[in-house]
Amino acid sequence: MKDKTILIQGAMDIEVEYLIRNLEKKEKHTIAGYEFYTGYMHTSKVIISKTLVGIVNATTTTTIAILTFHPDIVINQGIAGAHKSNIHIGDIIIGEKCCNINAFSMPTKEEGHSSNPFEWEPNKRGEEIQNGNETLINIFKDFFESNYENTIYTGTLGSGDVFNREYDRIMWLQNQFHHLSEDMESIGTYSVCNQFEIPCVGIRIISNNELTNEKLDKEQAINLQKLFINFFKTKLFDFS
Ligand code: 5AD
Repeated sequence: MKDKTILIQGAMDIEVEYLIRNLEKKEKHTIAGYEFYTGYMHTSKVIISKTLVGIVNATTTTTIAILTFHPDIVINQGIAGAHKSNIHIGDIIIGEKCCNINAFSMPTKEEGHSSNPFEWEPNKRGEEIQNGNETLINIFKDFFESNYENTIYTGTLGSGDVFNREYDRIMWLQNQFHHLSEDMESIGTYSVCNQFEIPCVGIRIISNNELTNEKLDKEQAINLQKLFINFFKTKLFDFS
C-alpha cells in the first residue's frame, strides 16, 4: 500500500504482540491509557493499536486513532468464534459486512413471567449493517487464498459484547443475522470508519466453534499476524 498510513487493530496482547515486534522505527504512544505503536513495515507506514476487548474500547480507540494519526486504511483483526458448523479453527473470515448481534428489543413481561430471548428481535442498531471496503476485501482475499492453506470466507462478521456458548442461541442468532463469526470489537471499528468515510476491513481467524465443540485456541491470533507480516513484505500495491 504505497504511501498510505495503515491502522492495524487487535484487542488482546496475543493479537498484537507479533505485529509490534515486527515494527521498524517503533514509537509507543499512550493516549487515555490505550497503547498505539507507530512505525514501518517495510515501506508501509503503520500504526498498531491495542484496542482492548469489547465494542466500547474498539469504538473509542478507533476514534482516537483516526483523529490522532489520520490513517488512510483501517484493518481490525484478531480471533473469533465460528457461527456455522462448516467453519473451523484456523479458517479466516473477511468481513464484507458487519452487524451488531447483541442489540435487541423485547416484549414486555410482568413479574414472574420469566424471560425468553427467542422472542427478542434485533432493534435499530441490530438491523443496521456496516460495510467493509470492497477493494481491501478483494486484495486480502487474493493474498490469503494464495498464501494460506485453510479456507477463506467472505461474509458478515457478527459482533457484540457477548461470547455465546449455547448451541440453540447461536443457531437463532445465525438465522437472524446470517453472519459467519462472532467477535467483540469489529462493529465498533466498522461504525466509526463508515462514519468518517475511511476504508476499513475486519479480518478474523477462527479460534473456536461452539457448535462443533472446537475449544478456544488463542494461538491462532499469531498465525494471522504472521500472514499480515508476510503480506507487507511481499505486497506493495496501489490502493485507490
Ligand atoms: N465470541 C465472542 N468473541 C470471541 N473472540 C474469540 N472468540 C469469540 C467468541 N466465540 C474474541 C473477541 C474478544 C476475545 C474474547 O476474543 O473479539 O476480543
